[in-house]
Amino acid sequence: MEYILAPSILAADFAKLGEQIDAAAAGGAKWLHFDVMDGCFVPSISFGMPVLESVRRFTKLFLDVHLMIVEPGRYIDEFARLGADMISFHYEAAGEESAKLAGRLHELGKKAGLVISPDTPAESIKELIPAFDMVLVMTVVPGAGGQTFMPECLDKVRKIRSWIEEGGYDCHVEVDGGVRADNIAEMKKAGANVIVAGSAVFRGDAAANAAELMKALD
Ligand code: DX5
Ligand code: ZN
Repeated sequence: MEYILAPSILAADFAKLGEQIDAAAAGGAKWLHFDVMDGCFVPSISFGMPVLESVRRFTKLFLDVHLMIVEPGRYIDEFARLGADMISFHYEAAGEESAKLAGRLHELGKKAGLVISPDTPAESIKELIPAFDMVLVMTVVPGAGGQTFMPECLDKVRKIRSWIEEGGYDCHVEVDGGVRADNIAEMKKAGANVIVAGSAVFRGDAAANAAELMKALD
């Protein structure tokens, strides 16, 4: 199984975002996690289309866009047009529309991810897994970087990984929030193969931090 580190630029220094992206790539990152927050689905506001446009022009890394927004169906076409590679939206926001939005993303040639927050049981999305390329299990409450990892969420990772194996689905399992060098091995053991890390990468030497986390994934 391929293990992927996805540094979250939410934790980067935006005064030197290009340098920070290069540093994360130098540390071995192949994905870049792009946290879009709308101030409605989550209390905070982060960044959107103009930043994605610049980041897309700047890097060849795989852009893993995480939409923490209401009404994701209104925006997925625009994020696809601006160069996102994977677009993940919250089941709590899309609900019954989730499979339809995944179909739309596939029509646009993009990968589709479905996100569940800590309070959402894994069973809620079990039937939807075959429609998606990734399930993102939040291991913090969405809305901010630098929070403490919630170990109780790993049970959901184990369940989802077992359903993917039973079904033979080609679907990543991503964990997002509170990942550090001292807990990343637990994520891998639970069955996650894509690991988001924001503050653990961008606080301090991003290249060295990313390399350390990549080593832990070997
Ligand atoms: C939280 C975001 C996460 C966050 C990760 O709402 O979805 O991607 O930026 O940051 P850390 O790794 O610092 O918890
Ligand atoms: Zn995220």
